[in-house]
Amino acid sequence: MKIAIMGFGTVGSGVGEILVSQKEEMTKKAGEPIEVKYILDLRDFPDSPFKCFTKNFEDILNDDEVGLVVEAMGGTVPAYDFTKRLLTKGKHVITSNKELVAKHGTELLTIAREKSINYLFEASVGGGIPIIRPLISSLTGSGINSVVGILNGTTNYILTQMIDKGKTFEEALSEAQEKGYSEKDPTNDIEGFDTCRKTAILASLAFGKAIDSEKIPTEGITKVTLEDTMYAEKFSCSVKLIGECRKAENGVFARVCPAFVPYSNLISNVNGVFNGIMVDGDEVGSVMFYGRGAGKLPTASAVVSDVVDAVKHKDTNIRILWTDAPEGYLLDGKDCKYKFYLRLKGDMNGFENAVSIADGEFAVITDEITEAEIEEIAKGHEIIGKMRVIG
Ligand code: HSE
Repeated sequence: MKIAIMGFGTVGSGVGEILVSQKEEMTKKAGEPIEVKYILDLRDFPDSPFKCFTKNFEDILNDDEVGLVVEAMGGTVPAYDFTKRLLTKGKHVITSNKELVAKHGTELLTIAREKSINYLFEASVGGGIPIIRPLISSLTGSGINSVVGILNGTTNYILTQMIDKGKTFEEALSEAQEKGYSEKDPTNDIEGFDTCRKTAILASLAFGKAIDSEKIPTEGITKVTLEDTMYAEKFSCSVKLIGECRKAENGVFARVCPAFVPYSNLISNVNGVFNGIMVDGDEVGSVMFYGRGAGKLPTASAVVSDVVDAVKHKDTNIRILWTDAPEGYLLDGKDCKYKFYLRLKGDMNGFENAVSIADGEFAVITDEITEAEIEEIAKGHEIIGKMRVIG
């Protein structure tokens, strides 16, 4: 199989590296050699061992020898147009691009199905963790009720470095960037958009209907304070950025937010660049997936596993499909009840189980309530911190 790689950044170069270092193994696993014929990138790489760079997408599109393309460009422009044209021409496409899958997955999967080829995206969620395969294959014997997890390595790395090592937000973010964990624009990580796209992909797979990532209520970690994390410790919790989706009677709830996760929940102990995803099924109960959620080789290994799978199934479409969702399928989360951590200014008299880390303020964990009920609980105290308790 002759292939092309589009985008020679962190993930694309990792794919090239694995295909060279594991050449014999991959040939055995795929049943035939996998040869990189083109690498598309606008930049020059004079020191790369690869000598097959092009700046012209048409070279790849119009070469009938190229049967599979790895899209590691990120973003939707021009990745969407390129992917659509490649699939329409009958070339398999493997991607790590969560933004594209979340936004145009329904259409791209439909084209792949019609053409009996594959559009695969294991690397789009959880980096090196196998989570897409389990949802479309290993776990299909069970109805799925919820998928909850830490889906972004950068923010988990930042939170862990701030809490355990006392680093500042800026220091921790800059380390995550150096290690190749963060998005080109790290706003996507820290404001929760990356987690939101991954949550949409998982929800679409788990429940079979497309969830529009732009409609998922999303909050990142920029408002989390060190004081919040100190209170979390007092309540035997960690602070984590959580993406969750849950099946309900008439649709699905989804949300991305920083949350208190009790130490008793395994997700609470997922630290650094690691991701942890808990799938709850009717028959199977809880299943946990854990591993490196970002980084060059873990993510590239997930891409390469898809490349091998597509080569093994080059004349068949591996069934991955969700359909468009009816209006109102993504439910309004306002009525969902959670326990809330509230950090309040003022006198803690009258509050049960309140704790304080400084004069003039305290924190409580409420019973399960809706967000609208918070004001009543706070009883006129100024709210200076607030998070859901999840898990
Ligand atoms: N920026 C992403 C993360 C990369 O930190 O998880 C992997 O999707």
